[in-house]
Amino acid sequence: MSTPTLHKAYDSRLFSEQGNDLILQIRNHLEQNITGQKETITKWVDPQDEYTFWKTYTQENHTTQSFFETVLKRSIHIHHPHYIGHQIAPTVPVSALANLLSAQLNNGMAVYEMGQASSAIERVVIEFFTETIGWHEGDGFLTSGGTLANLTALLAARKIKANSDIWNDGYDGKLAIMVSEEAHYCVDRSARIMGLGEAGIIKVPVGEDYKIRVDLLQHYYDQAVQDGFEVIAVIGSAPSTSTGIYDDLDGVSAFAKANNIWFHVDGAHGGAAIFSKKYKHLLQGINKADSVIIDGHKMMGTSAITTAVLFKNSVDSYATFSQKAQYLWEQNDDPEWYNLAKRTFECTKSMMSLRFYAILNAYGAQFFDDFVTTLYDSAYVFSEYIKESPDFELALEAQSNIVCFRYTGGIPKEKIQEINKTIRKTLLEEGTFYIVSTTLKGELWLRTTFMNPFTTEEHTQKLTDKIRTIAKSIHHKMQDA
Ligand SMILES: Cc1ncc(COP(=O)(O)O)c(C=O)c1O
Repeated sequence: MSTPTLHKAYDSRLFSEQGNDLILQIRNHLEQNITGQKETITKWVDPQDEYTFWKTYTQENHTTQSFFETVLKRSIHIHHPHYIGHQIAPTVPVSALANLLSAQLNNGMAVYEMGQASSAIERVVIEFFTETIGWHEGDGFLTSGGTLANLTALLAARKIKANSDIWNDGYDGKLAIMVSEEAHYCVDRSARIMGLGEAGIIKVPVGEDYKIRVDLLQHYYDQAVQDGFEVIAVIGSAPSTSTGIYDDLDGVSAFAKANNIWFHVDGAHGGAAIFSKKYKHLLQGINKADSVIIDGHKMMGTSAITTAVLFKNSVDSYATFSQKAQYLWEQNDDPEWYNLAKRTFECTKSMMSLRFYAILNAYGAQFFDDFVTTLYDSAYVFSEYIKESPDFELALEAQSNIVCFRYTGGIPKEKIQEINKTIRKTLLEEGTFYIVSTTLKGELWLRTTFMNPFTTEEHTQKLTDKIRTIAKSIHHKMQDA
């Protein structure tokens, strides 16, 4: 029996009132953030205090409108040009709207009949990727994030390259994959989930340029084989997360081919450069990969989380999971491209294809070119500025939209790391800029990722001025102590 609460929860008029108000709130948020009118982008609160705030919130009778308002206030504002931190896109509003539609329709997607439009749209989106890479027989699907996407592709690699049918029979041998020491930690995590253990993740050193040492690949492979490992795959980072430097995909591909192993490209961050006429050269060799992943929520402006898992050969996109689920689909011999759960980790998944398609439909492929190109251009300009500034040190010249650097002006060498760590902490607590830090060859560096196409030289000038001011104040305090 329905109840007054149930009636109220599904009231369409109430939905429209609350929805209109929310859209207005988001509109104001966008206006105040996108060009940097707002002074702060985050307000630092200790995790325990934030928890306490929300723990008691529902007992205080707040309206839904005020709840949304409070969430907006207490969240980090990715759309601000001073957000130059972790790799997540300021969502293109039309993609956010598509996400709202998906959230309310809640089509489950596991089988075609539970998401007809979004399943067909997913195929169109996948073709948009594979055709841009230059694959004629390519295929794939969308999944929930780069981490899951890498795991899914590596499971396909194992299915196709390993000498035994591990999915069905299990395995007690020694499998291995090869990857740069700079690769994202999720590759390591995927290998461990697959039961490869620490020894089965062969970390190949990077050179001075932070690219995987292609010249060492054969040596590491031979050593592993001699130690009894069956090496199934090599992974190229496009680019790696800390530095934003692309591996030499052509070089890695030649090695994979010579040894008949799978070549996977982790393009979670910079795979989207395939859409940039100016920067697609960074991905030379990507078309020779067996599988590639590309995140929408990083460099394509979609809301999180949505990742394309792409295969050069269509048939490989069906390789990962071979379990039968008769109750979901009737004909197990037909690949049934439209029953997507045959290929995805998820059974129920969101209608994530809408997030890409809404952008394509509204602005065409040009949007993706403009987005990547603008962000990379901004980072190159900033990288050049840091290189030319005597009181800053550049870790390495930018290749993507990631720039690692640190402040050094008049600071004794032994204090540089400590002062830069405090700079980052002070910025976070003040909330006027958001940048992060990373460790390169054991040393701490500040790290910026240009995610907002409206971040200009004027904004980065303010950032470097701010860093100078903070550094001087910390240095003085240290000297006084
Ligand atoms: C190169 C690379 N691969 C994978 C991931 C993980 O992607 P996701 O956060 O979508 O799971 C990241 C995230 O930063 C990344 O930079």
